[in-house]
Amino acid sequence: MARKIAFVNYKGGVGKTSLIVNLAACLAKAGQRVLLFDFDTQSNASIWLLRLERWNKINNTDVGAVFSIFSPGTVRIKDIIIKDVVEGKNGEKLLPGLDLVPTTFNLVDLESEYEGDARKPPYLLFNEQLREVEDNYDFILFDCPPNILRASQCGIFSASEIYVPSNPDALSLIGFTLLVEKLQKFQQLSASFRLALMGPPAAVQGIIFNSIKTGVDIEVPKMRMQLRMNQYKAQRRVASTAKLFETQVRDATIVRRAVALGLPVVLVGQETDETDNVLNDYRRLAREIVKHGELL
Ligand SMILES: Nc1ncnc2c1ncn2[C@@H]1O[C@H](COP(=O)(O)OP(=O)(O)O)[C@@H](O)[C@H]1O
Ligand SMILES: [Mg+2]
Repeated sequence: MARKIAFVNYKGGVGKTSLIVNLAACLAKAGQRVLLFDFDTQSNASIWLLRLERWNKINNTDVGAVFSIFSPGTVRIKDIIIKDVVEGKNGEKLLPGLDLVPTTFNLVDLESEYEGDARKPPYLLFNEQLREVEDNYDFILFDCPPNILRASQCGIFSASEIYVPSNPDALSLIGFTLLVEKLQKFQQLSASFRLALMGPPAAVQGIIFNSIKTGVDIEVPKMRMQLRMNQYKAQRRVASTAKLFETQVRDATIVRRAVALGLPVVLVGQETDETDNVLNDYRRLAREIVKHGELL
């Protein structure tokens, strides 16, 4: 059965997209079958993996974007999966095993203009369709925006694990606090829609520190985060297995360059120490996520 994982935090710019894209790539490179959903209307993950030209075609026509599964019609998740999404300049497949369901800017309409069926919230409709494809994957990953509005809810409702990318600063601690509060509200609100076969709602399993600069001491913000985590564990508001991840992803210019190149870092192949370091961090993160699954 696929592990279904959402990356979310109430703070933007902390590394949700770069961590999940590079995690997905490392897992695929290690032979896992991975499906990544882009649930952020800003479309960063989609533009990154498709590059602008391919993504523009979808954005201009709206054919193939995740929003289309919510409009009445016949488009289903299985119809819009882009298989082996990462391509070279001549269309050659560079990373077999990494599939994407992209978004475009129209996903924002899910929050305001979407009416749908009141008895079937978008997250339920999404969950029903996801079941048609989930057996084809080892990992299904949801890149969420910094909120728990409708698009995020789709990922969170279907996920069984939540990870919280963070920077070691006070604002990330606030983001985490807000996330846990809002998550609890959403889980209560959506409880009546859960079927027995779905298992319990997803809880926070981990905090992943990202963009750590060399020489900067992060012990104090880490300790504060650990204290908050302990408090939430005692209150059973996060999973009993939740932890601060040992892997911390270092700050590296290659991460920003990789976006411009339209490649995950594992495919950039530029061997500077800084690149090697951050690539090792992503690989270590992938191993730690795999290992954490053994505890669940
Ligand atoms: N390890 C890193 N080193 C350097 N820059 C990073 C790193 N991780 C993320 N970034 C940059 O920080 C910005 C925000 O990251 P992003 O993953 O888009 O965050 P979010 O999805 O949480 O908004 C992006 O410009 C990204 O390229
Ligand atoms: Mg993002």
